[in-house]
Amino acid sequence: MAAWSSELVGEAMMPREVLGEPIVLYRAADGSIVCMEDRCCHRLAPLSLGERDGDAVRCLYHGFKFARDGACVEIPGQKTIPRSACVQTYPATEKGGWIWVWMGDPARANLDLVPPAIGPGDEGWLTDQSHLDYDADYQLINDNLTDFSHLSYVHRNSFGATEFFADTRPKVTRLDRGIRIQRWMTSDTSKVMETAETHDRFQTYDYLVPGILLMRTTSYPAGAAQASGHDEPAEDLPKLIEVFSSQALTPIGAQKTRYYFSNSVNEAPGNEHALAGLMAMTFAAFAEDKAMIEGQQRIINADPTRKERLFGHDSGPVQMRRVIAELIEAEQ
Ligand code: FES
Ligand SMILES: [Fe+2]
Repeated sequence: MAAWSSELVGEAMMPREVLGEPIVLYRAADGSIVCMEDRCCHRLAPLSLGERDGDAVRCLYHGFKFARDGACVEIPGQKTIPRSACVQTYPATEKGGWIWVWMGDPARANLDLVPPAIGPGDEGWLTDQSHLDYDADYQLINDNLTDFSHLSYVHRNSFGATEFFADTRPKVTRLDRGIRIQRWMTSDTSKVMETAETHDRFQTYDYLVPGILLMRTTSYPAGAAQASGHDEPAEDLPKLIEVFSSQALTPIGAQKTRYYFSNSVNEAPGNEHALAGLMAMTFAAFAEDKAMIEGQQRIINADPTRKERLFGHDSGPVQMRRVIAELIEAEQ
């Protein structure tokens, strides 16, 4: 994930950093997304400080012009243009208001791997979105998001989460490129949040490489968990409110991660308030996570020889790290 669709309006050129590489994103006249190395091949100035010339970009240091495929098509004061005068481009696409880039071998870019995030502009949903920058390795945030037992401690204040999350285990299933985590939060058997719970909620999320969380939380009238045998609820079970959260971790550089997230609630009268409340709670909760994880990163850096010890709740993080390690190995 490199940007929101809404950021690329008109002639805007959006500088970003992904995997330590400076890139610039913009929208071509036909609406497609161009993703280019943000580094002129002449004297390495940022192209994002240049200007658009149709679908091309002109570097505003000495005026070299680059077509959308990265080829240099004009060098002021010189007729011949060596073929080596070009900048790297990367495959990019947008889906659900999210812009995705592929930083690897362009021949291996696969649109089928773009995660099915729900986000800004998706029909039937009210959505709001934002991002957060972390001074931490993305894998530490993956660990956090694949083990919700931390809710009981880190999010006592923001979510008012009780011991429920630490005392119970969700169902964890391995997927091809991630894991699926599912659980019921019921009104009767345990108090999940400090606020009075009057309904049952089923939460299911897919956590996909490199760090994509796609989570659907559906509220039902009390008793739904029992009626579903504490298993996945039937699609036609009457719902009260549906919340979808899409989150994406983008490694920017070493121990630097940009965390994009959106919350959506099903479109229905009054649900704008639910969305506003959810966003406020999310900002508070993510600040709690950030303080803990950046602190953890500092402690790890102070003595990288110290090994962590893993326990029962670490099965999600352990499985996710395994998926990532296996896919990295397969790609080598
Ligand atoms: S650095 Fe871009 S034209 Fe010279
Ligand atoms: Fe958290």
